[in-house]
Amino acid sequence: MRTRLENLDGLALAYMEDASPACLAGKDMDRAPIIQNAYLDMEGGTIVGFGPMASLEPEAHPPALRRIDGRGRWALPAFIDSHTHMVFAHERSEEFEMRMRGATYAEIAAAGGGILHSAKALEACSEAFLLEDLLRRLSQARSSGTAAVEIKSGYGLSMASELKMLRVIQQAKSLTRMPLFATFLGAHAVPTRFQGQREAYFEEVLQEMLPAIAAEGLADFVDIFCEENYFTPNELLRLAEAARNHGLPLKAHVNQFTSSGGLQASIASKALSVDHLEVMTSQDVTDLSNAWSAGSGPMPVALPGCSLFLDIPYTPGRSIIDAGLPLALASDFNPGSAPSSNLMLVWSLACHQMKLSPMEGLAGLTINAAAALGVSHRMGSIAVGKEAHVLLTKPIKGLASLPYHFGENLIEHTFVFGQ
Ligand code: NIG
Ligand code: FE
Repeated sequence: MRTRLENLDGLALAYMEDASPACLAGKDMDRAPIIQNAYLDMEGGTIVGFGPMASLEPEAHPPALRRIDGRGRWALPAFIDSHTHMVFAHERSEEFEMRMRGATYAEIAAAGGGILHSAKALEACSEAFLLEDLLRRLSQARSSGTAAVEIKSGYGLSMASELKMLRVIQQAKSLTRMPLFATFLGAHAVPTRFQGQREAYFEEVLQEMLPAIAAEGLADFVDIFCEENYFTPNELLRLAEAARNHGLPLKAHVNQFTSSGGLQASIASKALSVDHLEVMTSQDVTDLSNAWSAGSGPMPVALPGCSLFLDIPYTPGRSIIDAGLPLALASDFNPGSAPSSNLMLVWSLACHQMKLSPMEGLAGLTINAAAALGVSHRMGSIAVGKEAHVLLTKPIKGLASLPYHFGENLIEHTFVFGQ
């Protein structure tokens, strides 16, 4: 059965035959195509047609059709959340309260809170418990327009618990229609039992965990938290090389609190994406530009929900785009630095705080987010043959209404594979 969204006020990021780009960079982010008074056809999980209503011709043998009236509404490629930590034991609202009373994220982490707290809690959880919560969080994310989600491990920090997290993601892949991507983030923090022995823990991640996880096919990507007091640029280089030998691209947490070489190591490692980037020197932006000019830049990914929640600088998204670069946006959904999966809010923050235009924000949440996962040939724009991950808005005045009404959920329906 074909599903047709018709009489749409607008259809954004819609590309005719083979014209859909791998990502949008610089000024092109603001120039993504829009069709007014449009229709969109989905069948068998893919997009099978779209265009202006006026171009719809009566068919000799019309297919069985489910028609949805889109009057006053827009259809957009559904959001893709390319960076989350969506498997976790429970929230850390007590740390939030401590921070509101003056403690810093670093102080809480140094006192055994933060990532280590989440690791301790997760150790005691069963796969079934984690899975149930993950599925609930995924359906919450879907209600605000998200169709596809990347999910990291990294609250395990031991072979058994990292495998547990990744197996939970694997099970979720078979239980939801939403496309999910699993990332091994063993190098997220040094666990308590390795206190003062970062190198020894890193060797375990590199020599034992990574090969076991790759052998079981449990990860699509590998990640590392490259930051002072966490892991070094040199460790990033080594992990990236080992991951590449297993056919796993690197996505890296860099420049969240300091600019200390993680970005450059990621560029040298041909990472797929560099995420966070709250602290960027002008040299960092230049290095990223040079990498893109040379044809092998990582996708920069900004996480404005984390900036809001930790009250740290916003990624200089405006400067990154003005330098001719692409930019993707993601939630970073996790219990410590960004406890929200709401990409509608991320879109608002990207506009309000990073000075992106509404269309630039949308490109960051869709086609560029798909590129940050290496899947922009499959999803992230409206094009015939692409997977039908599409969101239908509630009645709105125009595209800008969506990030304008910050904190509101203006999504009426999120189609995943056309359903
Ligand atoms: O992306 N920066 C590292 N990891 C997470 C935070 C993890 C936590 O606090 O639980 C992040 O912000
Ligand atoms: Fe993160």
